[in-house]
Amino acid sequence: MKFISHYAILAFAASAACQQTRPVQCLPMFNGTVGNGTVGSEQQISSKTIRSVNATDANQGVAVDATYFYSIDNFSITKHNKTTGQAIMQWFGGANGPIIHLDGAVVINGTLYAPHSNYPHSPETSSVEEWNVTTMEHIRSYSFGVNRGSLTWIDQDSTGTWYGTFANYDRVQKGQTQPYGLSMNTQLVRFSPGPESPFQYISQSWIFPQELVSENFSPMSNSGGSFGPDGWLYITGHDASAAYIVQIPSAGSILIWVATVDLPDIAGQGIAWDRSKGPQNGGNGTLYGISRESKQVVEMSVPLQTCQTTTNLPVGSILGPGSFIDPDSD
Ligand SMILES: *[C@@H]1O[C@H](CO)[C@@H](O)[C@H](O)[C@H]1NC(C)=O
Ligand SMILES: *[C@@H]1O[C@H](CO)[C@@H](O)[C@H](O)[C@H]1NC(C)=O
Ligand SMILES: *[C@@H]1O[C@H](CO)[C@@H](O)[C@H](O)[C@H]1NC(C)=O
Ligand SMILES: *[C@@H]1O[C@H](CO)[C@@H](O)[C@H](O)[C@H]1NC(C)=O
Ligand SMILES: *[C@@H]1O[C@H](CO)[C@@H](O)[C@H](O)[C@H]1NC(C)=O
Ligand SMILES: *[C@@H]1O[C@H](CO)[C@@H](O)[C@H](O)[C@H]1NC(C)=O
Ligand SMILES: *[C@@H]1O[C@H](CO)[C@@H](O)[C@H](O)[C@H]1NC(C)=O
Ligand SMILES: *[C@@H]1O[C@H](CO)[C@@H](O)[C@H](O)[C@H]1NC(C)=O
Repeated sequence: MKFISHYAILAFAASAACQQTRPVQCLPMFNGTVGNGTVGSEQQISSKTIRSVNATDANQGVAVDATYFYSIDNFSITKHNKTTGQAIMQWFGGANGPIIHLDGAVVINGTLYAPHSNYPHSPETSSVEEWNVTTMEHIRSYSFGVNRGSLTWIDQDSTGTWYGTFANYDRVQKGQTQPYGLSMNTQLVRFSPGPESPFQYISQSWIFPQELVSENFSPMSNSGGSFGPDGWLYITGHDASAAYIVQIPSAGSILIWVATVDLPDIAGQGIAWDRSKGPQNGGNGTLYGISRESKQVVEMSVPLQTCQTTTNLPVGSILGPGSFIDPDSD
């Protein structure tokens, strides 16, 4: 079901992109391993807040499916009627249970998958916890133990491949003398399924551009992430009122920072695209986020990218005799 709906959305995106006259969003300069990654040189995109809904669990993140949205706190999840925002069911684990720090979630085919960690305790541990959204019962757990950092988000791209971030922090936690892993060590990972879990193996990983980390994440890290109906990956920090579009490079290990989306009514944390809706309103998509400060789930309308993300960016050029370049004089 999920695959079919994603392909339908992408097909719709492609045909919508052909018809409309809006300027192409993707900048042609991000075509190699040497993006101009200076702060502010990436494309700037604005958004519009549609509504804000009070939700006592709007503290870590949000998830959304075709009928409901879910507000997520450290050890509780509330299911809301998507139309009215009314809270209709809650899972509550309590402070003394095994689930202590959920960071957000994504709902796929009736299962809510939530990244979980023991933040801010040492050593950093992580797991994926799963709920049945019909009954709101906890149904599965997959533990990474100590592995790369604290898992802050997970999501599937349009092909069904799972990604996520293991975050690390420049902040020195209470009772510690060293930074909690260093923000620059935060890694986007691609999962590869095994017999026990879709998250069993990590096949590749990347770090975030230094300026994105130092200007927008540090002393915290990448908190939220969600693939848009346009196929692009949108991520958030811990506090900034923005999401960042990043792209996997064709070579090397540093993600390319493509664009920044201004999201004035949220402050970092978990985000979730409503992919049941796809592009609408002239090419905007529907993004959910939270405001920790006002304890609200925020629904936003965000212009989608009108070009497709590609894994085939050119890397370098081939030169013939007479045009060889001496690297020392480049
Ligand atoms: C969706 O979940 C149901 C069980 O609730 C399962 O039978 C079905 O195979 C799943 N579909 C996909 C595409 O994973
Ligand atoms: C992108 O490609 C064009 C044409 O090949 C080239 O002039 C430009 O320098 C490239 N930009 C980057 C950031 O690599
Ligand atoms: C990067 O882009 C910005 C904004 O377009 C520009 O002002 C700056 O000169 C560029 N820096 C480099 C090193 O190309
Ligand atoms: C689409 O998003 C832009 C924000 O850049 C906003 O100005 C516009 O009103 C949105 N369109 C709709 C129909 O919400
Ligand atoms: C939302 O919460 C605020 C602050 O507690 C309160 O003033 C407001 O009446 C609430 N709105 C609704 C629709 O319940
Ligand atoms: C959630 O967990 C974080 C980290 O342990 C903690 O700082 C925060 O106070 C907790 N919030 C709630 C509402 O339990
Ligand atoms: C959401 O609430 C409205 C108004 O009470 C109701 O008509 C609708 O059936 C509810 N949706 C779900 C999925 O329960
Ligand atoms: C959720 O629970 C319902 C009721 O027991 C069951 O029919 C459904 O298959 C379950 N779905 C998943 C994804 O576990």
